[in-house]
Amino acid sequence: MSEERTQEPVRLPRIGDPAPDFEAPSSQGTIRLDDFKGKWVVLFSHPSDFTPVCTTEFVEFARRTPEFHGMGAQLVGLSVDSVYSHIAWIRNIEEKFGVDVTFPVIADLSTEVSRKYGMIHAGEADTATVRAVFVIDPEQRIRALLYYPMSAGRAVSEIQRLLQALQLNAAHGLATPQGWTPGEACIVPPPATQAEASDRVKRQDLEITDWYLARTPAPE
Ligand code: BEZ
Repeated sequence: MSEERTQEPVRLPRIGDPAPDFEAPSSQGTIRLDDFKGKWVVLFSHPSDFTPVCTTEFVEFARRTPEFHGMGAQLVGLSVDSVYSHIAWIRNIEEKFGVDVTFPVIADLSTEVSRKYGMIHAGEADTATVRAVFVIDPEQRIRALLYYPMSAGRAVSEIQRLLQALQLNAAHGLATPQGWTPGEACIVPPPATQAEASDRVKRQDLEITDWYLARTPAPE
């Protein structure tokens, strides 16, 4: 007979939801989500300090921190390890890789923040967070979320690209095609009525494939 596992249902915040508020200890003292109001926030969890895949991710987040700052974004890490563990790991990363981790890392020993954000998936691990990423806009709404398992490291470049696409949409209302990178043509949202479709196909300023698929050069 197979053993049934009783699992507390994970409540995942969804795109468009207000980002759950928190106040939590971190490697830089107590932080609140509210501290970052007006900035984009990339909140990401990792399973455990001093583990190999997590270390490769952290090194890359640390290297790209100035680029995220240039995009008006604040990185915030999280795991269920202690502040002392975070400090020791950050110091080890500096020693071994020569990079400074300048973003705060939440020490979520109580799992309060992880549970609010649905970062603990019991089928993967009961006592550690999966590799979750939440992109939160300056009004503190969730704009994107990604979940990766323990075994697969994330590409920080993809998280940066996603943030660029979200910022483009927030500023210009444009969408982005598969594999888009900044500077490439963007997608104009499709027409909503027959009349708009008829107008759309006559537009000379757009690259029209058909009434529902039109591209425009990247805004300056
Ligand atoms: C890692 O980061 O290497 C790792 C963490 C938890 C489980 C498996 C791998």
